[in-house]
Amino acid sequence: MAEIIKKTKSLITKHGKERSALIPLLQNVQTEYGYVPKESIDLIAEELSIFPVEVYGVLTFYSQFHLNPPGKHTIRVCQGTACHVMGGKVILDNLSDKLGIEDGETTEDELFSLERVACLGTCGIAPVVAIDEKFYGNVKLNEIDDILNKYRETNEK
Ligand code: FES
Repeated sequence: MAEIIKKTKSLITKHGKERSALIPLLQNVQTEYGYVPKESIDLIAEELSIFPVEVYGVLTFYSQFHLNPPGKHTIRVCQGTACHVMGGKVILDNLSDKLGIEDGETTEDELFSLERVACLGTCGIAPVVAIDEKFYGNVKLNEIDDILNKYRETNEK
């Protein structure tokens, strides 16, 4: 925690304490940790003289920000037009049910994070799910367990 405070302080020094520094500052913190820790939020609010609830407002408004540490594997489920037409929403809902998490959350075992995303650029193989850098195309509901199990079996946290 001390390291997070120290790093956040140095980022505040870099960006300044103007209100306009808030978003670049939060982006930098997220680049550093993969999410924006509570300790950073409290310190940024204090130093920029704004209420923490306002910082949370920004963090929840922009989907690029995460409030939880990312899992070992990030599952991105495309919700672009082509994927939507081909059942991308059903795939997302199914993954959400199986993992017990919603968009932007991480499983308790910290193995998976789930993200809904716009077009992944591979519409020809819709619906598309990407896990880390690997793309799965023409995904069918009955394939999801096998896909997840590959990561469960080969990865201990
Ligand atoms: S809409 Fe899903 S990859 Fe383009």
